[in-house]
Amino acid sequence: MQNIWLLVYLGLSFVAAETGLDGWLRYASLPCSTQCHSRLPVGIVTLNSTKTSPVYVAGSEIQSGLKSIYNADASVTHNQCNSSSSVIVGTVEQYRRACGSLVGIPELAEDGFWLSTRGKEIQILGQNERGALYGAFEYLSMLAQGNFSQVAYSTNPAGPLRWVNQWDNMDGSIERGYGGESIFFENGTIVDDLTRVHQYARLLASIRINAVVVNNVNANATLLTPQNIDGLGRIAEVFRPYGVKIGISLSFAAPQTLGGLGSYDPQDPTVIGWWSNITDQIYTRVPDMAGYLVKADSEGEPGPQTYNRTLAEGANLFAKAIQPFGGIVMFRAFVYNQLNESNWKADRAKAAVEFFKPLDGKFEDNVVIQIKYGPIDFQVREPTSPLFANLFKTNIAIELEVTQEYLGQQSHLVYLPPLWKTVLDFDLRVDHEQSLVRDIVTGKRFNRTLGGSAAVVNVGTNNTWLGSHFSMSNLYAYGRLAWNPAVDAQDVLQDWIRLTFGLDRAVLDTITNISMQSWPAYENYSGNLGIQTLTDILYTHYGPNPASQDNNGWGQWTRADSTSIGMDRTVQNGTGYAGQYSAEVAASYERIQSTPDDLLLWFHHVNYTHRLHSGKTVIQHFYDAHYSGAESTQGFLYQWESLNGKIDDERYNHIRRRLDYQTGHSIVWRDAINDFYYNLSGIPDTVGRVGHHPWRIEAEDMELTGYETYKVSPFETASGSVAIVTSSNDTVGTALTTLDFPSGKYDLAINYYDLSGGQSSWQICLNDREVGQWVGDAEDHLSHTPSIYLDGHSATRIKFRGVKIEKGDILKIVGSPNGIEPAPLDYISVLPQGVVD
Ligand code: GCU
Repeated sequence: MQNIWLLVYLGLSFVAAETGLDGWLRYASLPCSTQCHSRLPVGIVTLNSTKTSPVYVAGSEIQSGLKSIYNADASVTHNQCNSSSSVIVGTVEQYRRACGSLVGIPELAEDGFWLSTRGKEIQILGQNERGALYGAFEYLSMLAQGNFSQVAYSTNPAGPLRWVNQWDNMDGSIERGYGGESIFFENGTIVDDLTRVHQYARLLASIRINAVVVNNVNANATLLTPQNIDGLGRIAEVFRPYGVKIGISLSFAAPQTLGGLGSYDPQDPTVIGWWSNITDQIYTRVPDMAGYLVKADSEGEPGPQTYNRTLAEGANLFAKAIQPFGGIVMFRAFVYNQLNESNWKADRAKAAVEFFKPLDGKFEDNVVIQIKYGPIDFQVREPTSPLFANLFKTNIAIELEVTQEYLGQQSHLVYLPPLWKTVLDFDLRVDHEQSLVRDIVTGKRFNRTLGGSAAVVNVGTNNTWLGSHFSMSNLYAYGRLAWNPAVDAQDVLQDWIRLTFGLDRAVLDTITNISMQSWPAYENYSGNLGIQTLTDILYTHYGPNPASQDNNGWGQWTRADSTSIGMDRTVQNGTGYAGQYSAEVAASYERIQSTPDDLLLWFHHVNYTHRLHSGKTVIQHFYDAHYSGAESTQGFLYQWESLNGKIDDERYNHIRRRLDYQTGHSIVWRDAINDFYYNLSGIPDTVGRVGHHPWRIEAEDMELTGYETYKVSPFETASGSVAIVTSSNDTVGTALTTLDFPSGKYDLAINYYDLSGGQSSWQICLNDREVGQWVGDAEDHLSHTPSIYLDGHSATRIKFRGVKIEKGDILKIVGSPNGIEPAPLDYISVLPQGVVD
């Protein structure tokens, strides 16, 4: 689309506080030039007058959007054709019936739409009502960005399935959710007040999502009680006017656990009858339900293998029950077993192909295999799942994760589309022909009729939805990519920025810059070269803990020892995983020379001294990347602060707090990973940074009263592996030191641990003059899973900037414990201006 920006970059500043609840649909007020006035419609015609129809809703959305953005009044009428200077919205069919012939509109695919602002009327015409609503949101998005270009085009989805998954539990909690409690469930049943569901429906429709699975894949069978089926009906009624269908996750064992049958064997006629009866009941209440999502024989969830039935037999059980209603079964490929690391050939990454490839062609036509983008589990970088190149007679969809489970849990800014694009744009070279993942998953490459994507989203009751304003860029971009996986990640981001924060050029440039740098930065300070995220995989998937990857059955191994690191996944010497790709791709991963550096340790086991294509050794790359990742993160904060006054205070401060926290936590990550591998390999950093911190004073080296030393585990998450804690939970501790730095201005950075289960307070003084104080209350402000231990999750940094220090000053920190939190301290850095450490 060619854009003519009539109102671009006006330098508007927003004073009204904003909670984030409206997301990108806030429709902030913009001034309207004469030209804009001449192009605003004076009326809106909807070609359906039923209030619950998407076309009617489209009319109301346009009306309120025009009012909100341009203070323009446009009246809504229905089913009239004489619509000069009006917007006319409906389906192509409704238009033909009401207004006669239509010329020049290309054939539309399901959910597609035509948008024309060129003629005497503005036409928004969908292939169906859902498409018409999408067109209305597209038009509004243009208006909200001050874009009055004259356009006439049609657009169609790349694939029919554009789903989101919520991992909401019946008790109201959300697995891997960082934005509060469920908007759907509480106390085992569906909430009474569905206001937030209504707001979510608008957001989803505006990014063209057509189905939402409302409950966790680790499903609770009690969702299927009559009372809860009725509740599902209420939820569906809220989504329906927005063209969003609902789906539900099923527990495979429900016939036994809920139905009281003796078995859940998919071949048992009573089990088959039970599912068919339940399906009838659900469709009686929700006649347009999109379908079922099933996680079976995975991570302890029951499945058909209990009865020696195949996964296809399991999936087909549901497919047959739901087929008469037009429903589909999204069956997850996330199936693997616990393994033993002493077996060099064992490899969890191979599991999906091993389980599913032999079943290709054995699934019913309404089954779709939902495949995570990589073969392990939403890591910071993974190669494309090879299962995409192994199913030709089976429908598939890609599974992405908007919720940042392994990627900073919304407490770190990580704009994810550049990561997703590494997979969507990857060419799997099936049969030596171009086979882009995005063409495979949408069904185009292997001529499948069903295909598309699902993303685990996990919005909650928090006003920001996901726990952080910035994380909404990932949800917005997911929708845009689900519609067209070929779009540019930065273009989409910039639409989101304009819609969310306005049209100021500095705002646009700054948020673009930090967002586009955020995933590379996160990868740099977490796990590099394809070694996975290196987060704690046994506890909360948040802070650093590289040792947790190995010596357990989960199969997320690094095989790091004192000389070497990486998984040998070659066919020749290793697990054979590389051989699951097509010949061309397999050949390139088989050899170190043709494996890209950023996946080297995914495919090869090499010495730390191995030289990368870049010329650096593996270990030096680790050290350098961690320093550079943490350094760019410090820049995010300063760049954001340059926007002070250009963003409303509420959102400005919310984001500033998170970026400030991220600057500190990126240093926790940097030092933990570097210290861990330095300790393991004994190979020093050639630039002398790792383990050498000239501006740092260890808390355990200070003069302590009421404080005692504490050995932190994992060791690398404390500087020098030791911290201090108060000697009891009602003793106030004091740590004193004499500063031996040249007089001048410094930033004081204090690393401490912020545990949940208590809110200690600290005060820092210079010669008994208070420089600052703070409270360990991150659990009330940040979104990540809290920890009750001193570890990489709770390790936190606070900074006091520009403090004047004289050589010989006495620095004192007083820590007052609270609850289980013993005012823990790790170290203090006295940083000359510009030094990051
Ligand atoms: C990850 C995640 C689990 C989730 C699982 C899944 O392992 O940590 O919480 O249940 O993925 O995708 O099923």
